[in-house]
Amino acid sequence: MKVLGLFGSPRRGGNTEILLEEALKGAEAEGAEIERLYLSDLDMTPCTECHGCDETGACVILDEMQQVYPKLLEADVILLVSPVFFYGVTAWAKILIDRCQAFWAKKYLVKDPSMGSRGKRRKGFFISVGATKGKRVFEGAIMTAKYFFDVLNAEYVGELVYRGVEAKGDILKHPEALEEARQAGRKVVRGA
Ligand SMILES: Cc1cc2nc3c(=O)[nH]c(=O)nc-3n(C[C@H](O)[C@H](O)[C@H](O)COP(=O)(O)O)c2cc1C
Repeated sequence: MKVLGLFGSPRRGGNTEILLEEALKGAEAEGAEIERLYLSDLDMTPCTECHGCDETGACVILDEMQQVYPKLLEADVILLVSPVFFYGVTAWAKILIDRCQAFWAKKYLVKDPSMGSRGKRRKGFFISVGATKGKRVFEGAIMTAKYFFDVLNAEYVGELVYRGVEAKGDILKHPEALEEARQAGRKVVRGA
């Protein structure tokens, strides 16, 4: 069982990193093999909409995203974390997600069976925090996460989102959130 943790925040040691580490601890406790990707460390170009993937399902931009594609495909569980930046996910998370247009092409244009209903099934879980307390603050980010998981044939099994969390480490004031993240990591692995 492979669990891939995608760290979407550029702030190391920040709130989403703390939560993802808890979720990974939970996953590890269930015996999963863990891999972490810090997206802001990767040299990744945004999708250029060149349609270079249309006929092959493979992206033609030769940067570090090329090493990420196989990891996404091999993962049984993908945990995506990103704070809310302007009502969406961070730019780093969005670059990775947009580069998954190559999987969209592989699935819907190339009709590669590995991306079809008989292909590998995965599970996806999303964790986010935002500084404000607005009712709709996570809507954009959740929608983006859902469609990211959808293209990967990853069943969206849920999310944990926390409002009113701003300064680095603020989430530590909410031990119940850390426990929820740990339990979510355990649960998603058990269900996969
Ligand atoms: C560029 C930027 C945009 C942000 N936009 C929002 C926003 O739209 N809504 C919100 O509630 N918080 C917003 N925030 C606050 C972050 O979501 C918040 O500080 C969060 O705790 C950061 O998580 P991290 O420590 O994992 O990086 C923004 C922060 C930055 C730096």
